[in-house]
Amino acid sequence: MALTNEPIQETINYEKEPIIKARDVQKWYGSFHALKGITLDVFKGEVIVIFGPSGSGKSSFIRCINHLEEHDEGQIIVDGIELNKNMHNIEQVRMETGMVFQQFNLFPHMTVMQNITLAPVQVRKWSKEKAEEIGMQLLERVGIPEQAYKYPLQLSGGQQQRVAIARALVAEPVLILADEPTGNLDTHASDEIAALLRQVADDWGRSVVMVTHDPRIAAYADRIVFLKDGVIVDETPLNGKHIMPAAVTGEKVAMK
Ligand SMILES: Nc1ncnc2c1ncn2[C@@H]1O[C@H](COP(=O)(O)OP(=O)(O)OP(=O)(O)O)[C@@H](O)[C@H]1O
Ligand SMILES: [Mg+2]
Repeated sequence: MALTNEPIQETINYEKEPIIKARDVQKWYGSFHALKGITLDVFKGEVIVIFGPSGSGKSSFIRCINHLEEHDEGQIIVDGIELNKNMHNIEQVRMETGMVFQQFNLFPHMTVMQNITLAPVQVRKWSKEKAEEIGMQLLERVGIPEQAYKYPLQLSGGQQQRVAIARALVAEPVLILADEPTGNLDTHASDEIAALLRQVADDWGRSVVMVTHDPRIAAYADRIVFLKDGVIVDETPLNGKHIMPAAVTGEKVAMK
């Protein structure tokens, strides 16, 4: 067989195939129609901000992406895996996805290191040594290795969110979903967390989908998706132009 310089074809061509492929996603809570046909592609290394008024369906949508909520109609494919009734697929997608919440959701009675290593040791059966080695590498990458053996409540809000991001990254997910990750932080800590999530995409090639109410944080995105009443009403690529949404109305104002 002739040798060629052709690159080995990967199963998924990330240049063309999105990490998240959502098609006409619909969700009802009883008779309430919360998501009315969401279609969105998210590519490798992109930071997408979902922006919109309270009750517009932002949390519902990102929770559907890792099946914390079940969508009723349409299609969600994450890293080539379709979310359907197949339990194996759901587990696979959850393994590919890290989640970060507004309230940090750390276990208060466990140290930072225990919080990070709990799932890899219990679910993935990693040895404690391996999990702690990777846990420490991650704490270095998120900038707080010296906090490893403290308890969450001994840390500032910004530090706790860094722990939550390290925990979300421990299993090397392709995707981070963050629901108002800066909602409980002051301006300075918010900027630091947004910059860290930007770095997760730029330096580590992960995709980030982040819900926020904060226009400053939205400016870190590659694209802002405006959601209103369960519908995408606008999608703004930023392309480094620093266009910032002025309000949740979908009105946009150039910063410079
Ligand atoms: N478990 C549920 N049962 C019934 N209705 C729900 C449930 N979860 C959300 N909803 C409704 O669906 C709509 C969308 O809620 P969702 O939490 O997705 O909004 P959101 O855009 O994240 O709002 P916020 O900015 O306030 O967090 C709201 O009207 C909400 O009341
Ligand atoms: Mg919400």
